[in-house]
Amino acid sequence: MTNEKDTSKLWGGRFTEATDAFVQRFTASVTFDQRMAAEDIAGSLAHARMLHSVGVLNEKELQEIEDGLARVQQEISEGSFQWSIELEDVHMNIEARLTQLIGSTGKKLHTGRSRNDQVATDIRLHLRAAIDSIAGEMTRLQKGIVGLAADNTTTIMPGFTHLQTAQPVVFGHHLLAWNEMLERDFGRLQDCRARLNQSPLGAAALAGTTYPIDREHTAAALGFDKPTENSLDSVSDRDFAIEFCSFAALLLTHLSRMSEELVLWTSAQFDFVELPDRFCTGSSIMPQKKNPDVPELVRGKVGRVNGHLIALLTLMKSQPLAYNKDNQEDKEPLFDTIDTVFDCLRAFADMMPAIKPRTEAMRRAALRGFSTATDLADYLVRRGLPFRDAHEVVGKAVAHGVASGQDLAEMSLSTLQGFCADIREDVFEVLTLEGSVAARNHLGGTAPAQVAAAAKRAGARLASR
Ligand code: ARG
Repeated sequence: MTNEKDTSKLWGGRFTEATDAFVQRFTASVTFDQRMAAEDIAGSLAHARMLHSVGVLNEKELQEIEDGLARVQQEISEGSFQWSIELEDVHMNIEARLTQLIGSTGKKLHTGRSRNDQVATDIRLHLRAAIDSIAGEMTRLQKGIVGLAADNTTTIMPGFTHLQTAQPVVFGHHLLAWNEMLERDFGRLQDCRARLNQSPLGAAALAGTTYPIDREHTAAALGFDKPTENSLDSVSDRDFAIEFCSFAALLLTHLSRMSEELVLWTSAQFDFVELPDRFCTGSSIMPQKKNPDVPELVRGKVGRVNGHLIALLTLMKSQPLAYNKDNQEDKEPLFDTIDTVFDCLRAFADMMPAIKPRTEAMRRAALRGFSTATDLADYLVRRGLPFRDAHEVVGKAVAHGVASGQDLAEMSLSTLQGFCADIREDVFEVLTLEGSVAARNHLGGTAPAQVAAAAKRAGARLASR
């Protein structure tokens, strides 16, 4: 059956039958792209003012469009705006309502413009604002980490490799490792922002437009660094969204590593830190349980963020120039990535300053597991043994310790001398945890003085953002 022709469509001119009802829903994006309404209106205002400045719109027309768009914005903010699937997307919903409000001048707004450069502009504006709020949360989190590090430059814990006790480190040193990961993520986020901050407006459908437009004008009005170079590229590529999602995948990977450590550390087996109750939940059956839900959930969120990155890469793969409807699929993965990243950062930034280290438990753990064995080997090297021989000697001492249930510092001098006659009374200085960490006194090492200085530098970097 042939549907009756529907003339309400903004592109309906060449059509002789109405869109199939299911196809209408299938192809519409308004349910999710209405989130870009504020950016769409900002783009339209910039475009209209530019059209006026080059003489395409007169003063009165510009005024009508400005007033009309302000009313549309108000209706959207108040929640009284009627979004319609028939009008497909955020762009046509807003334009149609503008025309309803101000009459035929509304129809002039689309002069020299296409939804293709319009949507490319909206996404960039939306993502740019999201990047700025995400950057704020990253800074808040990093300040929390660095603050905790500065308070824990002498708190000794075991450092691990293979999750086996390796050498003692201070807790602040471990925290500053987290901060370094986030510092690089922050740099990647800023790189992404710098590359996306160019205005596609004026590319129109794909080839540019015949009107005497001023692309510098709209670019400056919207806070872009400059207009994009090539109209075909401007309307088609979504590499900036992919770049953001790859930033997000790395950030969430880093947050998942921190999460994993927090989950381990809050267990009864480690007991290194305590999370405040407000970041945990209980069990409906086991009364003793206090579960570290926030870090667990953040660890789990990596899955969807990685998935969105792959979705966008696959979306762009093999797309011919220029705009294709495929690109409408960019929004949901991008928006969900933005929301997920922001929420994970917010949860972590709130939680970080409230983490309480259990310094005694950390210290006890560092005393177990022969964490100063390398220090004993280094001591023997200073007494003239080649390192490989020293390694062998200490290995035998450790085997004895495992069998007798003693750590190295608990053995008598004569027991230790049984493994190497060169050992003197001063060996006990290097077998202490404090002696071990203090000896690693160079840039990037775990000596308390180095960690305090590193925390200070990190704090200064954050303060100057
Ligand atoms: N809703 C569309 C999108 O998200 C807007 C651009 C549509 N352009 C077009 N020629 N159909 O990509």
